[in-house]
Order: sequence, then structure tokens, then C-alpha cells
Amino acid sequence: MSSKKPVVIYGVTGYTGRLVAEYLREYHVPFIAAGRDGKRVKEVMDKVPGIESADYEIAEVEHTTEALTKLFKGAKVVCNMVGPFMKYGPEAVEASLAAGCHYTDTNGEQNWMMHAEETWGEKFAARGLLLSPGIAQMYTTGEIAANICLETPGLDTLDILVLWKGFPTYASTQTIFSILTADFFHLEQNKYVQWSPFAKAEVQVPGQHAVAMALPWGGTAHPVWFKNDPRVANCKAMGGVFERSVMEGVVQITTVVEEQIKKMPKAQQEKALSDMAASLQAGMPPRENPRVNSTVDSVHASGPLGRVHCVIHGNCNYKQTGLLQAYAAYHLLQTPPRRAGFASGCQAFGHRELLGVLQSFGLSGKPIVSSYT
Ligand SMILES: NC(=O)c1ccc[n+]([C@@H]2O[C@H](COP(=O)([O-])OP(=O)(O)OC[C@H]3O[C@@H](n4cnc5c(N)ncnc54)[C@H](OP(=O)(O)O)[C@@H]3O)[C@@H](O)[C@H]2O)c1
Repeated sequence: MSSKKPVVIYGVTGYTGRLVAEYLREYHVPFIAAGRDGKRVKEVMDKVPGIESADYEIAEVEHTTEALTKLFKGAKVVCNMVGPFMKYGPEAVEASLAAGCHYTDTNGEQNWMMHAEETWGEKFAARGLLLSPGIAQMYTTGEIAANICLETPGLDTLDILVLWKGFPTYASTQTIFSILTADFFHLEQNKYVQWSPFAKAEVQVPGQHAVAMALPWGGTAHPVWFKNDPRVANCKAMGGVFERSVMEGVVQITTVVEEQIKKMPKAQQEKALSDMAASLQAGMPPRENPRVNSTVDSVHASGPLGRVHCVIHGNCNYKQTGLLQAYAAYHLLQTPPRRAGFASGCQAFGHRELLGVLQSFGLSGKPIVSSYT
């Protein structure tokens, strides 16, 4: 039997990676804690709560396909936390494929999802491996709510809202900015239709009287996941964070992107956006607190046979993400995914199963479902 630990957390030093480590410990799954700087990996791992009882080892690895392939060989699952994924993802996906590992990441970028499906979907499917970019609160929790609605037949239109309270991390801020130069889409009659870069809405938030501002947030994952789902013809998702000043900042930056940055050469665009993002978030937000950091995932599904509304009130966006990643690995070590190749969390593991995982760790409440059918 191989002595290799079966799961690799790549980017373990980040805010999310260390949470994956915490939850893998709770699932008793041995893992390799990997990052570009071994000393920093050790410093971070030493502070992970409860880590003294985890079965793990530390690895320093260069961010190249060759070095990552060597590290991944013999493992079964890669949990990649090094984003923005459109920028840093390809090496880790190529290496997972070369090493014969299932690949998951925490992406919320629609352009990365489309790229991953097109470039590697069939190759992973041919080897019976899962390629699941985007097992994370944004947007797996909303996908669970959508699938609860779709348990009622005859509903073909999804109107999705995803909001969370808290401040994005360094890489999340980089990601939010990096997707502003991309085209992004919703689904209309099974076809991608491009959003205006200036689209925004005041939305009614379930469970409160005040409205909030929501943006298409790069299109979200939902249109991609539901594109080839015969139950769904139309899918629009909006979201962001509750903090209005952050949302207003993104709207202002969208104008700068459209009027100035998109006119620059590609390499300069990336640097200008990355510098702007770094000026807003260079540090590490505090550890999440369930009494402060709430999440809301709300889905209105409608169609010829009626309407269903499902709301999932939860907490701690990053903890949900860390837990979902750890559970995905735990599941894949025991049994294959329900769908190999490119698949969402719900397509790979089942929406009721993932809801149970979030509920059992206190990260989501019972879904509130109302219907008229
Ligand atoms: N969709 C969701 O709900 C959701 C939730 C959580 C996270 N995310 C996404 O997950 C990603 C990570 O988030 P985070 O909160 O963990 O961010 P973070 O705290 O900034 O951590 C980023 C990680 O990436 C590593 N990294 C950065 N550049 C690298 C490079 N060039 N080579 C190798 N490693 C590099 C960092 O290593 P060093 O420590 O060495 O710098 C660190 O481990 C982001 O893209 C974020 O948007 C999404």
C-alpha cells in the first residue's frame, strides 16, 4: 500500500486552505499541506486549531506543472486554493490530470469554469476523474437551493441571489477584480446571453426589510452548471457582499475598467487590476464568527407548473467553503463521484448530501421552502 497521503491541499497558507486542513482533520483524512514557501506552510499549519491530532505532512512546491505533478503522484484528490484560477489554475489542473488525481478548487469565476470544461472536461471524464472547479459557498450553497426547487417538476427558470457578510481575502479581492475584464453570461432558452458590464440591481433580501445591492459578480457558476440541465432553460444569478460600500467600490471600478483599463494591452490590464485590488485588501480578515458572518442563498424557480422559493440562511462563507472542499475529498476517497469529468458539487455528490454536510457542522439552517404549484 502507498504511504502517500491521499489528499493534497495546494495553497494551504491562505485563509481558505487552512480551513480545509481543519475540516480534513475532523474527517480523519490524512493530507499533504502544500504551498510555495515551506517555512510559511509550517508557520501557518502550527496555528491551525487542533492540528496536533491531524495526520499530515508539509511540502514546498514550485508553481509549475512538472513540480506539481511530482507532488500529486500517488495522491487521489487535489484541493486547489491558489487563485485567481484563470491566472494560476492551469498548472494545477494539468498536474492533477497527469498524476491521475481528482481536481477540485474554490473558484467562483465563470470564465475559469467555461475554460476548464472546454479544455479538460473530456480528458478527466475519459479517466473517470472529477474536474470540479467551484466547490465553495459561492456557488455550491445556491446550487443546493436551486436543486431543492427543481425537485418540483415543471419549473424551468431560476432567479438566484447569493449574499454574504464579511470582507473578501487578498486572493478573493484579486479574483473579484480580475473577472471585471471578462465577458460574463446568464442563460436564456439554454443559450448564453452576455450581461452588460454595468448591470446591477436593488434586491429584496429574504429575512430582512432592507434591500441590498447585487451585481452579476462575473456571471457566477450557475449558468454554466445548468446549461446542459434539461430541467432548466433560463438562469440568472446575482450577488456579492452585504457591505454596500464594497459593492459601490466594485461599481466604480467597473467604470474605470470599461473606460480605461480595457484599452490597455492585456498584460498591463492584469497588473493595473491586481494593483488596485491589492490597495484595497493586502491583509488577512479576522477568523469568521457565525454571529457576524451570515450568508443568504435564495432561489426563485418558476415555470408552467408553478413557483417554488428556497432560501438557505447560513453563516461563514469561508468555513462553508473549507468544509465543502474537505467533504468532497473525504467522499472521493471512498466512492467515485456521481458524474466524472466536469461537474459541479451537486452533480458530483448530490444536493441533499451536501446540505446535510453544511447543516451537520452548523454552517447552514434548514432550507425555507414556499411553493405555489
Ligand atoms: N467561491 C467562494 O465562495 C470562495 C470562498 C473562499 C475562497 N475562494 C477563492 O479561493 C481562492 C483562495 O482564497 P483565499 O481566501 O484562501 O486567499 P488567500 O488567503 O489570499 O490565499 C491565497 C493562497 O494562494 C497562494 N498563492 C498566491 N499566489 C501564488 C503563486 N503565484 N504561486 C503559488 N501559490 C500562490 C498563497 O500562498 P502564499 O501564502 O505563499 O502567498 C495562499 O496560499 C481565491 O481565488 C478565492 O476567490 C472562493
